Amino acid sequence: MPRQPYHRTKVFGMQILLKIGIIYLTSSLVSIYTPCSQSFANDLKASTNISLYTAVHMIYIEKKLVSETSEFSHILLIHALYHRMWEVGENFRRPLSFWNPTAKKQSLDSAIPSGSVWLPGIPSYSKWRNSACDCLDILHWAANSTIAQAAGMEHPTVLHLHASRLVLLTPFREIRSLATSLAQEKIRWGEHQRTIEWHYIERWVKHDQYKARLAIIHAGTTLWHVRRYSTNAFHEPGAVFLAVLTLWAYGYCNRQIMQYSNSHSESSDPSLIHLDRPCDDELVQLFVRQGQNMEGNVSGVGDICSSNGPEKVLRLGCETLSGLTSWGISKRFITILKSLAELVSHDSVRANSGPNANGMDIGI
Ligand SMILES: *[C@@H]1O[C@H](CO)[C@@H](O)[C@H](O)[C@H]1NC(C)=O
Ligand SMILES: *[C@@H]1O[C@H](CO)[C@@H](O)[C@H](O)[C@H]1NC(C)=O
Ligand SMILES: *[C@@H]1O[C@H](CO)[C@@H](O)[C@H](O)[C@H]1NC(C)=O
Repeated sequence: MPRQPYHRTKVFGMQILLKIGIIYLTSSLVSIYTPCSQSFANDLKASTNISLYTAVHMIYIEKKLVSETSEFSHILLIHALYHRMWEVGENFRRPLSFWNPTAKKQSLDSAIPSGSVWLPGIPSYSKWRNSACDCLDILHWAANSTIAQAAGMEHPTVLHLHASRLVLLTPFREIRSLATSLAQEKIRWGEHQRTIEWHYIERWVKHDQYKARLAIIHAGTTLWHVRRYSTNAFHEPGAVFLAVLTLWAYGYCNRQIMQYSNSHSESSDPSLIHLDRPCDDELVQLFVRQGQNMEGNVSGVGDICSSNGPEKVLRLGCETLSGLTSWGISKRFITILKSLAELVSHDSVRANSGPNANGMDIGI
């Protein structure tokens, strides 16, 4: 059975509302759900009345953002993009989707794939995901002009936009599940490389590397945003938790891969990117395209792929979360990150002191 997708129940039954197209991106919707914010209050004046259903079609197909819509509408649109990606993913998780219907009798083994499906490896899924990324860029472009008007001040939609890349471009369920199981000792540290979750992470870093690095950029800027422009919103701790785990998974896994591949940098200049601050587009493109040898620096951590980078990222996450005290969930996240940091720190001691360095317990 496919697992319950993260976004299925979010946003007041979005699934049903989207299907029958009864969310209208109008002032009335805005006033019901966000009674007291200034920017939303401004939207009350907006005259647009178009369904979310139609707005999603427009942004995917016409690459156009419905004009005069509110920030809240933009957030709904992000969730609608998730929803569509979930539908596409769900379809491809079913083996029959790979079958070309025919009147001929065929054998099961040859007609449909067996074993688990890796979505980013399916060309059609990948195209959908690229389109979703384009839509997010359109929304981000609108957000950037709002930022410019506010003299650099980032509004809450920006955090949704960063986090959306983490949701769409990382195996975040696997990362979160592995981290939580390790922290709660449901999986022994020495066995993590044998878990299915680890295989997903490894595949992501190796074979989905461009999207992985794009996600890393957004993980870094998630931290930047929350440190400076926190509004104590309920989703901030969750976004930080996800961002920190993403940086940890990428840094830790990438280090393991580098240890074995010995690939030395044919130094692409520049060779460093600061992940936790906004950087110019060219540098971002360079990092995405050929960043495997570039140093991804996070302030207070240094290179996230260095030998103690992954541990420091986790500790930095605890620090950031301890500033987000409005919501009790921060404490739970901190507990998990702390336990994980302990495990990772023992591992780097082991890695520096012996041949059995890859964290595997080879039961002798
Ligand atoms: C928006 O349009 C829909 C359908 O045409 C209509 O039912 C709804 O009342 C309209 N809402 C507003 C606020 O004008
Ligand atoms: C928005 O601004 C950030 C930071 O300056 C930049 O990296 C990003 O490419 C911009 N996005 C769009 C879609 O213009
Ligand atoms: C990378 O980050 C570390 C830790 O914050 C810092 O000490 C170092 O100077 C940074 N490197 C560069 C080149 O800025």
